[in-house]
Amino acid sequence: MSVEVIVGAQWGDEGKGKIVDMLAEQADIVARYQGGANAGHTVCIGEKEYVLHLIPSGIFHPHITCVIGNGVVIDPVALMDEIRQLRAAGISVQGRLLISHNAHLIMPYHKLLDSIREQSGERIGTTGRGIGPAYIDKATRTGIRIVDLLNRDELARKLKTNIEENNRLLSAMYGETQLDVDAIIAEYQTFDRQIDEFITDTSLFLHQALKQGKRIIAEGAQGALLDVDHGTYPFVTSSNPTSGGACTGLGIPPTAVDTVTGIVKAYSTRVGYGPFPTELADATGERLRSIGHEYGATTGRPRRCGWLDAVALRYSVMINGIQSVAITKIDVLDSLDEIRVCIGYEHGGRRLKTFPTDVASLEQITPVYETFQGWKTPLSSVTSIQHLPAATRRYLEAIAHLTGTTIRFVSVGPRRDQTILIS
Ligand code: GDP
Ligand code: IMO
Ligand code: MG
Repeated sequence: MSVEVIVGAQWGDEGKGKIVDMLAEQADIVARYQGGANAGHTVCIGEKEYVLHLIPSGIFHPHITCVIGNGVVIDPVALMDEIRQLRAAGISVQGRLLISHNAHLIMPYHKLLDSIREQSGERIGTTGRGIGPAYIDKATRTGIRIVDLLNRDELARKLKTNIEENNRLLSAMYGETQLDVDAIIAEYQTFDRQIDEFITDTSLFLHQALKQGKRIIAEGAQGALLDVDHGTYPFVTSSNPTSGGACTGLGIPPTAVDTVTGIVKAYSTRVGYGPFPTELADATGERLRSIGHEYGATTGRPRRCGWLDAVALRYSVMINGIQSVAITKIDVLDSLDEIRVCIGYEHGGRRLKTFPTDVASLEQITPVYETFQGWKTPLSSVTSIQHLPAATRRYLEAIAHLTGTTIRFVSVGPRRDQTILIS
């Protein structure tokens, strides 16, 4: 059995795409297990930068089979766009992309409801990609799945029921214009021919691959603190990015997973609303944003930036069972005189030992920091641990110690070759 789960250990955008692409060299299959086109996973190959939203980050290795699992919510318009863009860049997905017949579809009404709810209710700061409403339909059992694309009459029947219900909701609650039932049915009836070749029972495929001793990377989207069960609810996404989500989102048993690797950015970022204890709403935060190019890969929104939060990370390590970590974007800290790490939370005069996931507590805590000396040396060309400055090594050792993990890789730039193997 060999499944390695790659999880974002913070609030997403930790550099999962880069690390998955790098690890894929030694794997056979890369399988996405949750989320949808809310994700933006960047892979840099030489001078070229690719941003993937639905297609797994192993696609740039011709020997890799990419799987989109049952736990993913798929916008077929976004998927076809992505396939077209890859083809235009000379990367073929033919025979290398498998899509679960059980994955749910994102429909135009999901995207519309997502944006209307953001404007009229309490704002989460969603990506507007229809993710929440699609998972709502999945949970209420009115969702339309990939397999439904293959039966045109059945697809038309289900779409008609759903669109008419959504039209009633749109006019009664939001005074919105109505969706055109026939136009949507006609559009979605064309996807069968475009997607048919990729559809299969991906769970069965993965079980057969495991029996043959193939190495599988399960690629998470978002991050543990955005998990609908374990994150900073309600400021979360609507799926389970945590490692357990790999089992339900791919149909593989927990016993098949032997490695859980956490991707940890050397500082913290968050997009959208919600508590962020170590946020820097000052010049240092601005500096991290500008040096780290911290703008959303999906929406282009500026990411909120702050110091590394070891309390949140310890929690993430616990929930995910993270054994080792890849620390990314450490080069972004190169020019800082001092670097801080949050090592504890104070709440009402008491020191908290664990991460509170309720928003009220998180908004009231005061972070306790330890300060580390900066290394003031560019790291982007460093290729081995021996050549890392002593101050960088002290920072890395502190992260390993504070989180109880071992550091496997340190990333010093976006490219594949800008990665240092630590252990
Ligand atoms: P993901 O969603 O976790 O895959 O991360 P994103 O792709 O949204 O954001 C990570 C960004 O940082 C991308 O623009 C990457 O190209 C870039 N990146 C990844 N690793 C490094 C690194 O070590 N240093 C620097 N400077 N940039 C990196
Ligand atoms: P990757 O995979 C960072 C955030 C949104 C918002 C919340 C809910 O690239 O790390 P949603 O559209 O999912 O309903 O929005 O989750 N969010 C992300 N933040 N990286 C992501 O993906 C994200 N996907 C969703 O900003 O706060
Ligand atoms: Mg991203």
